[in-house]
Amino acid sequence: MFANPSGITAESLGSARFRADYGLRYAYLAGSMFKGISSSRLVVAMGRAGLMGFLGTGGLSPERIEAGIREIQAQLPDGQPYGVNLLANLARPEAEEQAVDVFLRHGVRNVEAAAFVRISPSLVRWRLTGLDTGPDGRIVRPRRILAKVSRPEVAAAFLSPPPEALVKELVAAGRLTEREARLGEHIAMADDICVEADSGGHTDQGVAYALMPAMTALRDRMRTRYGYADPVGLGAAGGIGTPQAAAAAFVLGADFVVTGSVNQCTPEAGTSDSVKDLLQGLDVQDTVYAPAGDLFELGARVQVARRGLFFPARANRLYELYQRNDSLDAIDPETRRTIEQQYFGRTFEEVWQETRDHYARVDPQVLAAVEANPKQKLAMVFRWYFVHCTRLAMHGVEERRVNYQIHCGPAMGAFNQWVKGTQYEHWADRPVSVVAELIMQGAAGQLADRFAAMTGPDTAAAATTAATA
Ligand SMILES: Cc1cc2nc3c(=O)[nH]c(=O)nc-3n(C[C@H](O)[C@H](O)[C@H](O)COP(=O)(O)O)c2cc1C
Repeated sequence: MFANPSGITAESLGSARFRADYGLRYAYLAGSMFKGISSSRLVVAMGRAGLMGFLGTGGLSPERIEAGIREIQAQLPDGQPYGVNLLANLARPEAEEQAVDVFLRHGVRNVEAAAFVRISPSLVRWRLTGLDTGPDGRIVRPRRILAKVSRPEVAAAFLSPPPEALVKELVAAGRLTEREARLGEHIAMADDICVEADSGGHTDQGVAYALMPAMTALRDRMRTRYGYADPVGLGAAGGIGTPQAAAAAFVLGADFVVTGSVNQCTPEAGTSDSVKDLLQGLDVQDTVYAPAGDLFELGARVQVARRGLFFPARANRLYELYQRNDSLDAIDPETRRTIEQQYFGRTFEEVWQETRDHYARVDPQVLAAVEANPKQKLAMVFRWYFVHCTRLAMHGVEERRVNYQIHCGPAMGAFNQWVKGTQYEHWADRPVSVVAELIMQGAAGQLADRFAAMTGPDTAAAATTAATA
């Protein structure tokens, strides 16, 4: 057993305030993964282990979100920690509002807010509803926001009090009380900020070494400016799949760490066995960037698995074609045939019919705009491919495997390399809480080891020799 005279333990990593606020054993969270990939089963497993996971609500209907929350609450009856994802939806703000309604109705306490570029009315409503003061006069916040950000300007918005104009509008609409609005002036929009460096899924490809110090300075400046009673926590996500990476994050000052990619390759993840088989074979260089289907026209990028898959190359080709052509008819016949036969497995017309039927049901206004604009129609037909490829992966359609879209970052390959030759090689032997345990216990050992090496007798002797040479 590793001797650890430093006293560093998995329980002591990160911030004590953070662990106490959420009732956690370790300052370690499993981040949201859309369409229930971070499933209620995964969230329950984390909660039972004294850790916290977030339900991946992105792309789920309000009914499915509700069912997921019910299931979690039924299986965590003793107030064990859990959270849910609140995803920004610029195109359909009503989707955010519906999600917040569900969360409020079911007494959810913790949300991981992500993909926001500015503070939205639904976020403010979530943040301020139910604000009160305790017997000591301090503001009591019944609901928490952990905001995942990768850019300083977005971090600054979450480190500021709620925007006055939005608060006024919500009061005028009867959605907040005057008192909630007044108390809201004294708190930041978020309790905690999670700084996301290059990660699986949507990524700004940030570098943790540069981001963390800059965000820490920003957080400290904002606290001084607004004089908040409570500090805003700062965590790290992106690239964390090994003890070494978690240890580095804590040395960079992280109050907590968030993982994503490694949790997709666990028995509890809500995706197919076929995806998990593929993930467990990845190395660190087996991921690559592709266009993001949901933000296709904006040129946003996601990081995906590439080993043995054609999806990334095909997705990039579709984006190039979108940039160069103004309509489906402008695409040359040979390219069209390749896309229809090899990529889509059906004709443009068939895809358009399917897409049209969908929008006629859920958003007829969008459909009318698209029908009048051939370039938008092209984008919509191409975007179908991204949805389709996620579905193929999640359902494990083996014969169409090369088209799988699997969001994933290099943390997955790093984890695989680390556990090679151990009992954790197969994903079935990697319960999500065991992955957390391995990373956090290992990080404590890693830190103790490194500090011992840097402060031990050999180091001291070498320093004396150097000084006297
Ligand atoms: C398959 C997958 C799906 C994801 N979906 C979401 C999502 O719906 N909402 C969200 O906030 N983050 C999402 N993320 C990001 C994770 O919550 C987490 O922040 C990120 O994966 C951490 O970086 P890592 O992948 O390098 O560990 C997703 C990540 C993956 C791998």
